[in-house]
Amino acid sequence: MSQRETWATRAGFILAAVGSAVGLGNIWQFPFKTSEYGGATFLVVYLIAALGIGLPAMLAEFVIGRKSNLNAISAFEKLGHGNWKWVGVLGVGTGFWILSYYSVVGGWVLRYLGGSLTGAYFADPAGYFGSISAGLDALVLHAVFIALVVAIVAGGVEEGIEKATKLMVPSIVVILGVLAVWVVTLPGAAPGYGYFLSPDLSTLSLSVSFDPLPSFSGPLTDVIPFAVSQAFFSLSLGMGAMITYASYVGEDQSLFSDSLTVVVLNSAVGVLAGLVVIPLLFVQGIEPGSGGAGALFVSLATAFGELPAGRLVGVVFFAVVLIAALSSAISLLEVVTSYVVDNYGARRPRIASALGALIFLLGIPSAIDTAWLGWFDTLAYQLLLPLSVLGVLVFTGWVYGRPAVAELLSGSSLGEGVGLTWLWLARTIVILAVLLTLWLGVQTLFV
Ligand code: PFF
Ligand code: NA
Repeated sequence: MSQRETWATRAGFILAAVGSAVGLGNIWQFPFKTSEYGGATFLVVYLIAALGIGLPAMLAEFVIGRKSNLNAISAFEKLGHGNWKWVGVLGVGTGFWILSYYSVVGGWVLRYLGGSLTGAYFADPAGYFGSISAGLDALVLHAVFIALVVAIVAGGVEEGIEKATKLMVPSIVVILGVLAVWVVTLPGAAPGYGYFLSPDLSTLSLSVSFDPLPSFSGPLTDVIPFAVSQAFFSLSLGMGAMITYASYVGEDQSLFSDSLTVVVLNSAVGVLAGLVVIPLLFVQGIEPGSGGAGALFVSLATAFGELPAGRLVGVVFFAVVLIAALSSAISLLEVVTSYVVDNYGARRPRIASALGALIFLLGIPSAIDTAWLGWFDTLAYQLLLPLSVLGVLVFTGWVYGRPAVAELLSGSSLGEGVGLTWLWLARTIVILAVLLTLWLGVQTLFV
């Protein structure tokens, strides 16, 4: 095996992990799922899940990655003495699955970037979305997006990935911040803030009865599986991405503070995007939840059409979203690429291209029809993501166990008590919460 690459600087890992986390999940998926599944109720469950489940699960992935110094599949194989490879395979498969339609949406972003330059979507925003999100057009855009991702991953960890993510987060925060301030000034925005930010406490309830299997009822039965999985999706968990990135990290770096940085920044970008998009839906009289996957694009395009400097804002906005989408997508492709590079020593550019081609094929249904995209997305949320995160937690908590605490604490100034608390939580409450998510999610698949 050749010398494994590492991050060039200490900040390299955080930047790349944030780059993986912050993406279409925050800017497209989060506002869209929030408006579809209960507004502020969704927000509350999402934030609790990001901190209470996402953070411990991310620590588990970091520990596995750094300890093993291997790709996401071989890491489980090594630390689990050959028996737990399937957790890695499930994660890598989940990432592959997600990237296939993520890339389709990335293609839409590319198109809207061009459309902002020419003003193509100003006249008929809804019609424009319909025409670019289906058939040959969408297929070509999907291919172009994948090609960009392949080109970056082919360049390797340090040159390609580390550099691509440096500017992204500051630019996203600034642009979303400016847009959020602008949205405040629009007539009709006010109810949007209420919908997004003030939860109706009566909706935060869940009851359970046993006969003998648990059966749940109450408003949260619908919200939990989407909001918790949204936290996993958004934090790039359950796809091997964080394991892979942590495998390039040195023992002198504090995994704990790095993961906290990722969770806080990622949530902040999501909330900021929500502050732009959700009031904007109200301004345009779009019922929350009625717009589907295209609502974000249609409402932003409409808004940019009305802005004095709409073309300029549109170009800048979609350029930043594109960078965010790319830095997330490269983390997914990197997961599989590093597995093949580690195990078969094959050349990085060739592997990346071959995998890109496979992802393109898997994404064809999603590209030509958004109904397929919805189905791919539902299966990822309701089944694959929670199952995969569950595997990571069970392995780290119960199989690998105590050595995980030492690995977690290496490079950090935290006391052992913090590490033991984390392990205990990961073994018990966090696993139960993921089981609940999975249970509720699988039920929604069959109704
Ligand atoms: N976390 C990314 C987002 O929120 O857009 C999506 C993503 C990237 C999911 C990488 C999974 C992953 F491995
Ligand atoms: Na995210």
